[in-house]
Amino acid sequence: MSKTTSKASKTIESHLIENRVFKPAADFSKKARIGSLAEYRKLHAESVKSPDKFWGREAKELHWLRKWTKVLDWKLPNAKWFVGGKLNASVNCLDRHLEGPRANKAAIIWEGEPGEKRVITYRQLHREVCKFANILKRNGVKKGDRVLVYMPLVPEAAIAMLACARIGAVHSVVFGGFSAESIKDRLADSGARVIVTADGGYRRGQIVSLKQNVDHALKGNDAVKRVIVFRRTNLDIHIEPGRDVWWHRELEYVSADCPAEHLDSEHPLFILYTSGSTGKPKGILHSTGGYLVGTYASTKYVFDLKEEDVYWCTADIGWITGHSYLVYGPLANGATCLMYEGAPNWPEPDRFWKLIADYGVTIFYTAPTAIRAFMKWGDHYLQKHDLSSLRLLGTVGEPINPEAWMWFHKNVGHERCPIVDTWWQTETGAHMITPLPGATPCKPGTATLPFFGIDAAIVDDQGNEVPHGEGGKLVIRKPWPSMLRGIWGDKTRYRKQYWSEVKGAYFTGDGARRDKEGNFWIVGRIDDVLNVAGHRLGTAEVESSLVSHPSVAEAAVVGRPDEIKGQGVVAFVTLRSGHRPGEKLKEQIRKHVAEAIGPIAKPDEIRFAEMLPKTRSGKIMRRLLKQIAGGQSLTGDTSTLEDLSVLTKLSKGEE
Ligand code: WT7
Repeated sequence: MSKTTSKASKTIESHLIENRVFKPAADFSKKARIGSLAEYRKLHAESVKSPDKFWGREAKELHWLRKWTKVLDWKLPNAKWFVGGKLNASVNCLDRHLEGPRANKAAIIWEGEPGEKRVITYRQLHREVCKFANILKRNGVKKGDRVLVYMPLVPEAAIAMLACARIGAVHSVVFGGFSAESIKDRLADSGARVIVTADGGYRRGQIVSLKQNVDHALKGNDAVKRVIVFRRTNLDIHIEPGRDVWWHRELEYVSADCPAEHLDSEHPLFILYTSGSTGKPKGILHSTGGYLVGTYASTKYVFDLKEEDVYWCTADIGWITGHSYLVYGPLANGATCLMYEGAPNWPEPDRFWKLIADYGVTIFYTAPTAIRAFMKWGDHYLQKHDLSSLRLLGTVGEPINPEAWMWFHKNVGHERCPIVDTWWQTETGAHMITPLPGATPCKPGTATLPFFGIDAAIVDDQGNEVPHGEGGKLVIRKPWPSMLRGIWGDKTRYRKQYWSEVKGAYFTGDGARRDKEGNFWIVGRIDDVLNVAGHRLGTAEVESSLVSHPSVAEAAVVGRPDEIKGQGVVAFVTLRSGHRPGEKLKEQIRKHVAEAIGPIAKPDEIRFAEMLPKTRSGKIMRRLLKQIAGGQSLTGDTSTLEDLSVLTKLSKGEE
């Protein structure tokens, strides 16, 4: 812990030591594909040494319309995977399963927020996708065209994506919670001329007027030729003659016969916009073959998927998690996926637990932000429901605070289910650092070890690997199949952002350290690192220690300029139900952090808040909190905020 200042300023210090270890249970390991750490290590070493062999073998499990001639063609920063190969993603997610017993297996089990239920088999899903692909063609969509999808979480959202894939159109899904302004930006950047949307969708008992947002976005736009509208809510909407058509009406004109396009392995599959911490959203581009192999293989190994699993990923299709682990990964594996349209606390905060019990969910994949909300709402909501069908849990999106991990483990997994804490990014397409549930000993808070084929390392500012225990920049030193192929329309930004910071490697933007077992601990985005009196501290660690205080539900930590220390620590804190803000509690919490991490991390200021400002995907918007903490006025893009009123409250200092 006592490091010299000069050394400390180069790396990120780590003070929070987590010693609880959870090994996979013997009966879980026995049935798992990868059943021991030794087996993982052997296969990982092989996969990094001979990626051609490993990825070639995985790719062979999929259906190729023409086999590739070369696994990888790599000229930094441009990768081509499965060169010369031809395939179709929708064939791999659908047609491939129709020949055997999976044909009448449930592909999607759906429940709407108001409670409607639908079960769609692989055969039915195939039929619907073919029909919608024909609708797209009928409306002028051709191979390579971009199609913007702005839908509620209904099966038709997945159908629209797979239909695009079937004819080689490039989908760009815009999260249904985004505004008209976001649609406008993404339309302009992607050049999409066709939009697939719905009259509305349900969220917390309200109807979100999706079509109306599209109408606003299209004011003054004559580039968009067609809007295809799915009827979900019966909301009264405007139909623009000559431009807008109803999905159900179009169905009358098409057959269920739609041969799949034979697409080059590198043919673009989709663009997904992700908001950088500053500036305009980047259109992350993914290709067909590599992305499908990456999501297929990771779904298979990380969730150790079995034929009889009922798999539930709670992400919306508007995020990469929804693309990779609600649609492409699980369907390519022939899994049964639960899809739920609405909010976790509608009509009551037990909706998720009720869904798990009703459908016998076996694998449950969600986000730390949701877990902290469940903790805040209280344990009694879980106790009413039978969660014994669960066998595996997973998290994604941000570092999980050890206390949240323990809560998830105890209250949801009943100390029986392994937890896979999966680290990855929109850009990586698939899991990169993650436990394998039958093999990897887990400690709460670490995403543990690299997935097969992934060469991850932690380096200092000069690009040299740092010793174990020290923090630095997380990089990936070799290409992997599901890596992004670029930023749509911006070659220079692609190279600059990802391949220039550290020579020869992909820079993730995250800070991390490794412990003596080699586990990777993500300490947060590099931009979020605090520098307090020459000590670099990861925000994630300070937040974790805050959340380990019994009164704290959620916390966000930012720095503010401090004449003496360089930066002071400001903590925004929301309390668990039943706890009241007050000066005494502030002092207790500050002391608690000082004891857990050290006096250096003791917050200079604690600000209680009702809610924290978050992006729609649940990430805390530290940039805005920084401005508030530093007393500046708010600037920059706030289109991804969950609740703007939260910000005004915070900046007024309301408690
Ligand atoms: C960033 C990527 C990957 C799908 C959802 C987010 C953070 C993500 C973890 C994890 C620690 C995590 C990282 C990463 N992150 N998963 N398991 N542990 N941090 O996708 O919006 O592209 O964000 O999310 O900071 O760089 P995204």
